[in-house]
Amino acid sequence: MVRFLLIFVLFMGWALPGETGVKSVGTSESLRFDPSGFPPEMKSAYAVMQAKCTHCHTLERTVLAVTTGIAPISGRPFDRSAVAAYGQKMLRMPNVRMSKDEVKQVVDLLTYLIDNTQPGNK
Ligand code: HEC
Repeated sequence: MVRFLLIFVLFMGWALPGETGVKSVGTSESLRFDPSGFPPEMKSAYAVMQAKCTHCHTLERTVLAVTTGIAPISGRPFDRSAVAAYGQKMLRMPNVRMSKDEVKQVVDLLTYLIDNTQPGNK
């Protein structure tokens, strides 16, 4: 039981680095998207993502999901339908601090990124 609790606590600390004050440096810093080649509406969506999707975890998680096609926590495929489902899930999470419109912008951006990074999903 103690062991289970320990694993649980460790997992939560890892899943919610923003909440525990642990800051990532190094690899996660380089793991961002470069929005310079994005169309204008995707650039503004990227600004929303950078500001809002880093509240609980870094963008590393999102970048890994998009570029590998596998959601790093669940290990499930991260495709168009997974993005839409994650957007819905986000809206139900406590402390998400995002409006419906902001979530929609990010979902559109992730769909665009998936279409442009995962060849099989075009
Ligand atoms: C309220 C805190 C919070 C915010 C804000 C947040 N996330 Fe998450 N995110 C989590 C947690 C907790 C998980 C761990 C697993 C889960 O619940 O899906 C997670 C997991 C993920 C995963 C991996 C999912 C998987 O199944 O492996 C991705 C990708 C992701 N988040 C992207 C985003 C994006 C994009 C945004 C902005 C729209 C965002 N997150 C905003 C808390 C948050």
